[in-house]
Amino acid sequence: MLRRLNFYSICFAFGLSVLLILAGTKYTDNINYHPPPETRKTIRNYLKIEDGDDNLAQPIPTNPYDGLPNIDKIIEKTRNKIRIELLNYNFTISGVSNLEDLLMESGGTPLRSLIVSTWRSGSTFFGELLNAMPGNYYHYEPFLWYDIIQIRGPPYSYKALKFMKNLMKCNHEGMSEYFEFGKGHLHAFSHNTRLWDHCKYNKELCFDPDFTTKICRLFPFQSMKVVRVRLRLIEELLEDKELNLKVVLLIRDPRGVMQSRQHRSFCQPSPDCWSPELVCADMISDYVAASRFMEKYPNRLMALRYEELALNPNATAHKVFKFLRLDVTPSVEEFLHTHTTTEVAGVSSTFRVSNAVPFKWKTSLLFNYVDEVQTACKEAMSLWGYKMVHNASQMASKDFYPIEPYTITQ
Ligand SMILES: *[C@@H]1O[C@H](CO)[C@@H](O)[C@H](O)[C@H]1NC(C)=O
Ligand SMILES: *[C@@H]1O[C@H](CO)[C@@H](O)[C@H](O)[C@H]1NC(C)=O
Ligand SMILES: *[C@@H]1O[C@H](CO)[C@@H](O)[C@H](O)[C@H]1NC(C)=O
Repeated sequence: MLRRLNFYSICFAFGLSVLLILAGTKYTDNINYHPPPETRKTIRNYLKIEDGDDNLAQPIPTNPYDGLPNIDKIIEKTRNKIRIELLNYNFTISGVSNLEDLLMESGGTPLRSLIVSTWRSGSTFFGELLNAMPGNYYHYEPFLWYDIIQIRGPPYSYKALKFMKNLMKCNHEGMSEYFEFGKGHLHAFSHNTRLWDHCKYNKELCFDPDFTTKICRLFPFQSMKVVRVRLRLIEELLEDKELNLKVVLLIRDPRGVMQSRQHRSFCQPSPDCWSPELVCADMISDYVAASRFMEKYPNRLMALRYEELALNPNATAHKVFKFLRLDVTPSVEEFLHTHTTTEVAGVSSTFRVSNAVPFKWKTSLLFNYVDEVQTACKEAMSLWGYKMVHNASQMASKDFYPIEPYTITQ
């Protein structure tokens, strides 16, 4: 009896081992199993959905068998995507009670933010930070086609301001220069990730004012950055009640600006970019405009030094978002985390938080050149709280801290 039981147990154990071995083989097979491309795509779709993303990121059909992209369908999907992404958004912070209040198609007014800066002053990072907001439409630097010039007044300012208004109001008709330039320079559109999601598969969509107007109107948050328009001219936009615009002026130490521009070949041929006299005259003009606007348009302008953002990104970002009436969403926190703890390679995207970045000029510029910049920039530097350095040894010293508090007098 006992022996028979033993026999059955042995059979059972043996059977179980065989099963386990079989299962193991199957499992090993699975590891080495390469799904055909179609299946792999499905797996990725599945993961995407798991991530809380819907399948909007999927290619819009562009091959001839699929026909032309269905614009109505793209618009409908985008509308739903925005709604889903903002389900947990705290609209009270944005001064409204619900999403509709911020949607043009429901008769609402989007929250519009404009970054006014100049080349190599941290505006790329700052622009991307704002674009980390779900539901944001990013009008990236619309004046690339002007090349390397500063717009300080007529005649360029007429068209520049008209285009800025058109873009912000999602009315993209009559802007052929903007769209023509973009055809040869896709980066003019690719920074607008929520537009690029669609036109990277079908470039014509980017150049189709009818489509861009339609898609733009879906977004509750609209941001723009300009590096070629001086603050004084922005008054026309602040006067425009329909825009309800908030402006952030981003300033940087001219010594850091000039150091950073040395590595950009586009800069040297252009006096607007390369001459410290012009760069610092713009800084003075921006200061004068900023102090006037702060009085005349309370709570519509914030001035920010790049160094504050670079040295203290989290606290500064929170301050800026509060000013812009934007809730700091998990996606924004994630952006801050990933972009301020590691260096991201590539032109205009390098951003690492350490004293080394904003103050790199101290070790990489010759004192003679710094002295030249300071001579041209004395007034601008004193207005914006940048301390002069008096000789090479002071410049090399760790004890020399180039920034100090400043006030914008009204
Ligand atoms: C939304 O923000 C307001 C204002 O900051 C705050 O009083 C409220 O508690 C927030 N609501 C939620 C659900 O977090
Ligand atoms: C970022 O700053 C905010 C506000 O100052 C603070 O509440 C938050 O804890 C900070 N986050 C990190 C990761 O330091
Ligand atoms: C450099 O400038 C500092 C601050 O003005 C001064 O204290 C120091 O004596 C100067 N050094 C030389 C070598 O001139």
